[in-house]
Amino acid sequence: MANNKTFTMIKPCAVKNGHIGAILAKINEAGFRIVAMRMTRLSVSQAEAFYGVHKERPFFNDLVEFMSSAPVVAAILEKDNAVEDYRKLIGATNPENAEEGTIRKAFAVSIQENAVHGSDSDDNAALEGGFFFASSESYTADGIEVLD
Ligand code: CMP
Repeated sequence: MANNKTFTMIKPCAVKNGHIGAILAKINEAGFRIVAMRMTRLSVSQAEAFYGVHKERPFFNDLVEFMSSAPVVAAILEKDNAVEDYRKLIGATNPENAEEGTIRKAFAVSIQENAVHGSDSDDNAALEGGFFFASSESYTADGIEVLD
């Protein structure tokens, strides 16, 4: 995946609280194109694998339980400078530190239930996008051709 793509998940808290549409609107208004998207529920083992980098952290078990508690909406987003610009749009991990206008400021409940995930590097964007989507499920920004 080139550096014009990032990966996001709308987390179970935001799905349960009815914020899917509002979050997708903010994503589009900020200039991102959705090139792949799916609503799905993570199993415990899928959540453990996705967040494997955090397995030694004290919050890991709670995070896995939370992320497998209800559906998520996974998506690949395209825009110039996608990873950095999306991290700015979502705001700080802890919503208490998130700036006004960010997705987490508007929709996060707590540091764990922080509404959305966003990849932190181009490499992780490619890995995380590949965790959810085959290349045949990802489209070009005009929404027509499959990226293969
Ligand atoms: P995310 O950006 O998806 O990456 C790791 C997730 O772990 C993070 O968002 C939060 O949902 C969660 N997380 C990070 N730090 C903490 C923490 N200190 N306590 C609880 N959960 C955390």
